[in-house]
Order: sequence, then structure tokens, then C-alpha cells
Amino acid sequence: MSNRVYIFDTTLRDGEQSPGVSLNASEKLEIARQLARLGVDIIEAGFPITSNGDFEAVKTIAREVRGVTVAGLARTNFADIDRAWEAVKHADQPRIHTFIATSDIHMTHKLRMNRDQVVEAAVAGVKHAKSYTSDVEFSAEDASRSDLDFLCRVVEAAIGAGATTINIPDTVGYATPDEFAAFIRSIMNRVSGIEKVVLSVHCHDDLGLAVSNSLAAVLAGARQVEGAINGIGERAGNASIEEVVMALYTRRDRYGLETGIRTEEIYRTSKLVSKLTGMDIQPNKAVVGKNAFAHESGIHQDGVLKERTTYEIMNPAMVGISHSNLVLGKHSGRHAFRSRLVELGFVLSEDELNKAFARFKDLADRKKEITDHDLEAIVENEIRKV
Ligand code: KIV
Ligand code: ZN
Repeated sequence: MSNRVYIFDTTLRDGEQSPGVSLNASEKLEIARQLARLGVDIIEAGFPITSNGDFEAVKTIAREVRGVTVAGLARTNFADIDRAWEAVKHADQPRIHTFIATSDIHMTHKLRMNRDQVVEAAVAGVKHAKSYTSDVEFSAEDASRSDLDFLCRVVEAAIGAGATTINIPDTVGYATPDEFAAFIRSIMNRVSGIEKVVLSVHCHDDLGLAVSNSLAAVLAGARQVEGAINGIGERAGNASIEEVVMALYTRRDRYGLETGIRTEEIYRTSKLVSKLTGMDIQPNKAVVGKNAFAHESGIHQDGVLKERTTYEIMNPAMVGISHSNLVLGKHSGRHAFRSRLVELGFVLSEDELNKAFARFKDLADRKKEITDHDLEAIVENEIRKV
């Protein structure tokens, strides 16, 4: 089995389905260009049938962003597929991504179709997409809550009809990592022809398990992971691409797998997506949050100043952040305090340093974060003045 994991980015499709987010065509294009720089393998640029605006945006991305696969989403009906093809056909590598739900809940209440009808629709949709392009992805929506025997039947039929990627979504973020890994293994063992296609996963974060489930699936044999930058997407969002990629890289001792991601582009991409979607990044967000490489306590700051790896498992430069950040607050120690003063151009005697440090601690009890301006004031107005 190959050790390459393909990264399928759906920031511009599922990510854009985040409540309150709407990107115009030029914003989508700007993000798509940055995703190509980041090195994702597939950009899912949109769902062309949903609106003329989305159709035009996908079409523009397909024409202008070269060297990457551009996918358009479509249900299995022919009108969706025709529209998706019209939008992606000028891409360097066009992909049609077609889906239908396979869980009893969805088939009964949403589709109002029985199992045979769903298999028939999946086969017809994949065949129709295949008449346009050799690159067809089939997704069994709500796969993780589907009856395994039936899911295997649909997947086998989709492969028989020509699908080249089979995606197993955990649409409502219901799976747990151990269960999802076993589910993926069962599909791999039971579906004939599965070895001819790329097996993909698409995990949602309703229980905060999207990244864990994606990694568990990869250990079980999945070789495409779908997700979004900053983990945005429907409800609680999708698996966060930057977290999946950095977990695979940082723990390559465990996974032994590679992606094509240029990790130094991660931070820039995250910032751009946050700015254009208007979705803030929580400060403690793994990999790209403001605090991801910030250290506040004296013990941690002392450790990092002596040797970065004492408290950092990733080098911030690897994700495009220039350096770690020692935040001065009430837990900080003398080592970090002195080092920040030196950076600001103040070299104090031992006595001056002791006084300044005492003043700083007093202030830190009253103020959450001490700025460079506060430090300058302490030294210039209270230490050097007397
Ligand atoms: O969550 C989901 O099941 C999806 C599919 C369309 C892939 O977004
Ligand atoms: Zn989704």
C-alpha cells in the first residue's frame, strides 16, 4: 500500500457551508490560489448546481488555478452532474464528486428511496460522471451510520460503475476513532475491487473527533483525507487540514506516511481563510491559534529559552510562524523577563533587574498581559529615573 496520503480540501465547499459564511468569486479564487501554494492535492471548489455565483466561482478556479485537481460536488442526479462538469471541465485535472446517502435514516426520511433505488441512482450517477471524466469520486453520505452490508454493496456497485475514489463520510460526526478504524478495515476487507481505488474519509467534528477519526482511518488504510482549513464547515466543522497534516508529520515515526503539503504555508493559509470567511480562530486552536506557540509560565519559558523542544513538539517555523512567543504575565519568571528586556535594548545591572522584576510582578497581578510598552515604562520611568 502506498505511503502517500492525498489531501482533499473542502474549505470552499463544506467550509463555505459554515453558518454565516459566504464567499464571493474573487475571494474563492484568492483562497484557491493559496491552497494550491499550500500543496493540497484536490480543491473542492464548490457545489455548482446550488447557485449561479457558485457555478461561476468553480469555473473560474478551474480555469485559473493550475497544477491541482479541481472538484465540483453533485448529487447523483444528471442535472447536478452536468452542471458540475460544465464548471470543472477546464481544470488541469477535473474531478466530479457525486454523492448519495446510504443510511436508513437518510434514505427513509430525506430521500424517501429504498435500498435498491439508492444503488441504482449511485451507479447511474457514477456512470454519467464517468462519461465526462476519468476522475470520479463517489461519497456514501452518512456512511458511518449505514448498515455495513448495504454500504459495502453500494460501494462495490460504485466501483463497478467506474468510481476512482470512494469516500466514507462521518457526516454527522458520530463515529469514535476505534469504531471508525474498524469500519474502514471492514470495508477494505469486504469490498471487491477496493484495492483499485483511493479510499477516502470525510469526518465532521460534532464530538470534537474529526481529526482523531481521520487519523484512525488512515492507520486502517484510507489514503485520502478530506477537511477544511481551520476546521470550518457544517455545524461544528470538518477535520482541520492543518491538524491532520501536522499530526502525520510530527508523528511520522508512528504513521510512516507523507502528504504533499508545504507546511510553511499553513499559517498564511489559515490567516487568509479566517480573514475572508470572517471566522475567528480560537486562541488555543492547535497549530494556528495565537497561543499555539506561546508560553506563559516561568518554568515553560525557562525551558524554551534553554532548549525549544522542552515544550514545543513542532517548530513554529515549520508552519510559517516566525518564532515562539513568550507571553509575559504573572506566571512568568526572571529568565524570560530579562530576555525580553534585552530584546528591547535594556541591559540592567543585577540590582536594577531585581527591582524591575518586582515592579513587573506587581503590575502582572493587576494586568493579564504585559506589553513591551509596559516594560519600557517600568524601566524608563521607575528604574532608570531613580
Ligand atoms: O458530510 C458529508 O457527508 C458531505 C458529503 C457531501 C461528502 O459533505
Ligand atoms: Zn461534509
